[in-house]
Amino acid sequence: MSTTAILELRDISFTFPNRSQPILDQFSMPFSSGQKLGLIGPNGCGKTTLFHIIMGLHKPDSGVILFKGNEVRGKDDFKNLRKDIGLLFQDADDQLFSPTVIEDIAFGPLNMGASPKEAREIALQTLERLGLTDFAERITHQLSGGEKKLVSLATIMAMQPKALLLDEPTNNLDPQTRHKLIHILRDLDLAYIIISHDWDFLADTCDDIYAMNAGKVKQCGKDHLHNHSHAHPHGEQPHRHGHN
Ligand SMILES: Nc1ncnc2c1ncn2[C@@H]1O[C@H](COP(=O)(O)OP(=O)(O)O)[C@@H](O)[C@H]1O
Ligand SMILES: [Mg+2]
Repeated sequence: MSTTAILELRDISFTFPNRSQPILDQFSMPFSSGQKLGLIGPNGCGKTTLFHIIMGLHKPDSGVILFKGNEVRGKDDFKNLRKDIGLLFQDADDQLFSPTVIEDIAFGPLNMGASPKEAREIALQTLERLGLTDFAERITHQLSGGEKKLVSLATIMAMQPKALLLDEPTNNLDPQTRHKLIHILRDLDLAYIIISHDWDFLADTCDDIYAMNAGKVKQCGKDHLHNHSHAHPHGEQPHRHGHN
């Protein structure tokens, strides 16, 4: 595994124009190629906003984003970054817009200059790689929420990214689809950052876990994580308990 920094956030601060409190307050985080990183934090703490800042959808008030060691500033820099970093949106309906699955997945490669035949070929290969071949001719809007998540991931993978940003990928997934996603992610030879409240999912898919709160982030030991299948009031917080 390489440890070259693919992305680094340095002292990023960001406040929405109509809000008084900053969402990010001198937020710093490194992200290396090959790293599988989990990010947790309460609802509304700014996790999605962070991903949008990385992709250039919001402009930070101050701080620096480094991509492969170079500062990302203008439109062209972000365009370049977006070729290598794929964002899986929190809501799959923001990602999918074509009538059929195969068209949705071929869209990215087509847009990057592949011929229709090549794009279809890439789309089919991507589905096969993710174990989703049966989805090719399905009607996108008829898919379940979980199926849409998997297809969204395929649309991103078809662009051959170097890293992924996954925003709450297990929301609304049934246990089988969740399991399938865990296997897909573990098999990927790609760096990613996963936002999730699902501790067990992060434990299964990530090497490092960061917790976000009050505009900042800190690394938590992975020993805070544990597998269990019940729910209790502390389910979203790092905690320990004995065997049951
Ligand atoms: N465009 C916007 N304008 C103003 N406030 C926003 C906007 N988008 C999100 N917010 C607010 O910023 C905070 C962080 O949002 P978000 O990044 O979506 O949180 P998270 O993903 O951690 O749940 C929330 O309080 C949300 O309501
Ligand atoms: Mg969010």
